[in-house]
Parts: sequence; structure tokens; C-alpha cells
Amino acid sequence: MPPNLARCPTEPRTLEIFDESLRRCSANPRFLDRFYEAFLASSPKVRQKFTNTDFVRQKRAVLASLHLILLAAQDPENPDRYLREVAERHSSAQLGIGAEFYDLWLDSLVATVREIDPAFGPEVEQAWEDVMTIGIRYLVSRFQARGA
Ligand code: HEM
Repeated sequence: MPPNLARCPTEPRTLEIFDESLRRCSANPRFLDRFYEAFLASSPKVRQKFTNTDFVRQKRAVLASLHLILLAAQDPENPDRYLREVAERHSSAQLGIGAEFYDLWLDSLVATVREIDPAFGPEVEQAWEDVMTIGIRYLVSRFQARGA
């Protein structure tokens, strides 16, 4: 994967499948509770990162960032426009979220969508993986960034 992340835009159909699934998931008040239950259970290292977290705020922030990743996937040459602050927050200078954490994040998220989305299937799973990968690649690429 080239560091500038230049790549073909995600298929419009994939964006639509993701968007519709995100709406169904968001309609279930348990969605983000279940996600954080799964993510925190995935590793003690993850739990340690969230020791002092206000999860009411965190769930709002993460829901907003799922929509920002959708915008970034629609416009993959300009991820900075949508995700710069989220990337800075996760970088080595701040939260120190290295690449090894993101597989746990995506596995926990997809497992939660499987449980919550009544229309879950292979297409929905692929759409979440494709769209989230845009955001994850960008965050990982900015891990060492200084004040960018
Ligand atoms: C694409 C993946 C991810 C997205 C979209 C995302 C999104 C966010 C957002 C929007 C915030 C709130 C930032 C703010 O305070 O304004 C946040 C905070 C945080 N994220 Fe992530 N995140 C991702 C992956 C991860 C991973 C893999 C970890 C690993 C443990 C992680 C740990 C944290 C922590 C510890 C906080 C701060 C919580 C606090 O304020 O106590 N994130 N994340």
C-alpha cells in the first residue's frame, strides 16, 4: 500500500451497503455498548488504554467518526479533510495506538455488526471491511506524524 493512500475510490454500491448497515446498527441503542464490550474484552492492552474514558462521550465520538470514515472512503485522496484530528489523537505523540491494535478493533466491530444488523451477510461484512480499511490505513500511516 503506497503511503499516500492513492487508490481507486470505493465502489458506490459498497458505500451504500455500508451506509444502510450503519443506519440499521445505529437504530439499535445497544450497538456501541456491544462494540466496546467486545473491544475491551479483546485484550488487556486495549482495556488499559480506556482506563479513564467517559464512554458516553466516547460512543458519540466514535459514531461520528464512522460517518467521517464513510466520507473519506467516498473521497479517498483527501482523508486529511475528514480524519486529521482523529489521526492526531491516536498518534504516537498522544494516545499511542499502534498498528497492532487495529485488527482487534475491526474484528470487534465486524462481530458486533454481525450480531446487531438484521440484514448482515457476506456483502455487508465486506462493505464494513472495505470502508473501515480506508480509515485504519490512514490512521496507521499518521502514527508517527508530528503536528501534521
Ligand atoms: C478506525 C479506527 C478508530 C476510530 C475511527 C476511532 C475513533 C476515535 C474517536 C473519534 C475518539 C475520540 C477523540 C476525541 O476525544 O475527540 C477516539 C478516542 C480514543 N480511541 Fe479511538 N478510534 C479508532 C481506533 C482505536 C483503537 C484501535 C484504539 C486502541 C485501543 C483506540 C483507542 C482510543 C482511546 C484510548 C481513545 C481516548 C479515550 C478517552 O478519551 O479516554 N481507538 N477514538
